[in-house]
Amino acid sequence: MRAKKQRTRGLFITLEGVEGSGKSTQIRHLAEVLSQAGYRVLQTREPGGTATAEAIRKILLTASSHEPITPRTEALLIFAARCQHVTHLIAPALQRGTVVLCDRFSDSTLAYQGFARGLPLKWLVATDRVATSGLTPDLTLVLDVPVSVGLARRRADRAQQNRLDGETERFHRKVRRGFLTLVAAAPARMRVVNANRPSQEVRDEITQIVLGWMARPPRSSRRS
Ligand SMILES: Nc1ncnc2c1ncn2[C@@H]1O[C@H](COP(=O)(O)OP(=O)(O)O)[C@@H](O)[C@H]1O
Ligand SMILES: [Mg+2]
Repeated sequence: MRAKKQRTRGLFITLEGVEGSGKSTQIRHLAEVLSQAGYRVLQTREPGGTATAEAIRKILLTASSHEPITPRTEALLIFAARCQHVTHLIAPALQRGTVVLCDRFSDSTLAYQGFARGLPLKWLVATDRVATSGLTPDLTLVLDVPVSVGLARRRADRAQQNRLDGETERFHRKVRRGFLTLVAAAPARMRVVNANRPSQEVRDEITQIVLGWMARPPRSSRRS
């Protein structure tokens, strides 16, 4: 049954976590490992991934003191970007049997816009379903680091600073707790990876989890 499913649909793997947890670093490594293992891989990110979604990303990551982006506007822009991304890039790739690796996806929206900004989770979940047409990741890795560690890594790399780096540590702690709450609610799909370690160690654990999971994905993760 699994073999049949793999012929008709690729695998959708997402990386989540607070700023500076190592998502962008690790997704590059994972793409390399999977390509070398012979999989056809698409590496992408949110918000973004298509021309329109990347244009929306620019709006989201640029602070304006004249016209602050409201939490609802932020959420709606993220959903608009996600709808373009799923429709024009992710879904077609999965249809072709590609392994899609995405840096942030729906769980980030629940963690940031829900747990941290305080928008109602029910509304976010329902609207997300509209944006994704119900597509959920098969496997989600949450890279977990103390917020102070993540933010210090980002500060050391000024080129990466964006509007979200201006948020308080308290905000980022809510995000981190949000991710851990989401994992507790969907343990079949989501795994926590301790990312407060040297990059190589994190990389090895991610490789082990993903290759092990691909060899025998738990059935329940297909539907959760
Ligand atoms: N395990 C690690 N230990 C120390 N520094 C790291 C580690 N992983 C990533 N970094 C560095 O921290 C910064 C943020 O990493 P990045 O992968 O961009 O995180 P994210 O995409 O989650 O914000 C980068 O400068 C990166 O080189
Ligand atoms: Mg990143």
